[in-house]
Amino acid sequence: MKICRTIAECRAEVATYRKAQQRVGLVPTMGFLHEGHLALVAAAKDATDRVVVTIFVNPTQFGEASDLDAYPRDEARDFEMLRAAGVDCILVPPVEEVYPEGDETIVETTRMANMLHGLVRPGHFRGVTTVVARLFNFVQPDVACFGEKDYQQLRVIKRMTRDLAFPIDVRGVPTVREPDGLAMSSRNVRLTPEDRQAALVLSRSLAAAETAGKAGATIEEIRDLIASTITAEPRATLRGLDIVEADDLSEISGPLTSPAAIMLSAEFGGVLLLDQRVVSP
Ligand code: PAF
Repeated sequence: MKICRTIAECRAEVATYRKAQQRVGLVPTMGFLHEGHLALVAAAKDATDRVVVTIFVNPTQFGEASDLDAYPRDEARDFEMLRAAGVDCILVPPVEEVYPEGDETIVETTRMANMLHGLVRPGHFRGVTTVVARLFNFVQPDVACFGEKDYQQLRVIKRMTRDLAFPIDVRGVPTVREPDGLAMSSRNVRLTPEDRQAALVLSRSLAAAETAGKAGATIEEIRDLIASTITAEPRATLRGLDIVEADDLSEISGPLTSPAAIMLSAEFGGVLLLDQRVVSP
């Protein structure tokens, strides 16, 4: 496994793959890897011959400098996990190469970045697209994998890729779940056993929504069903429930006529958990 500390080293490595007519997959990460990242690596391995993972804690997507400083890092452990997962190349670019002195270029999906989660995290998605566009340009992969769990991020990146005509197949990878349905998250370890059990209401309510959607329920009925299922769980506090058009995240109402994305967040004993599902008529 090649570890590159500069963009030039990574480009030289990728050039050897290209020379051998190999297809290249990219998994951008901010490090401190978990099962979800390994699922992205597995998807990239399935789709291509060589997999490059980037590890870069991107300052422009954090609202507060303190959040950036507090972001967990464990490079040695990340490298070991990626080696075991069969990754070919890791790029850990220095911040001064990603954002050179005097940098003034941003990339923003002007509508999609400033709705839903973008309203509570101003500038976040602009930071994501700005860095992902740069990572795409550094590595120039054929395929890039992102988690469906961060559904808005996935749609924003797909839109940017289309608008800027990057010749990259951006793939969403389904959320990795515990056997009982709980979406995997590094936050799950902070749940008490009772809250861990109660948190199953998230995947349960999404499954019920899917069944209702297939049976002809309207968006409003699906919203009520999810909200009432979650509020019936005394340990849960519903924080966010958005049901939007699955492709462009626009508002929808009435009968479910095309796929809809449900984005859900709820707190359990002070731990905020997210889940999402795309439901089709
Ligand atoms: O999902 C993440 O970890 C980050 O937002 C990403 C896509 C690596 C960009 O910094």
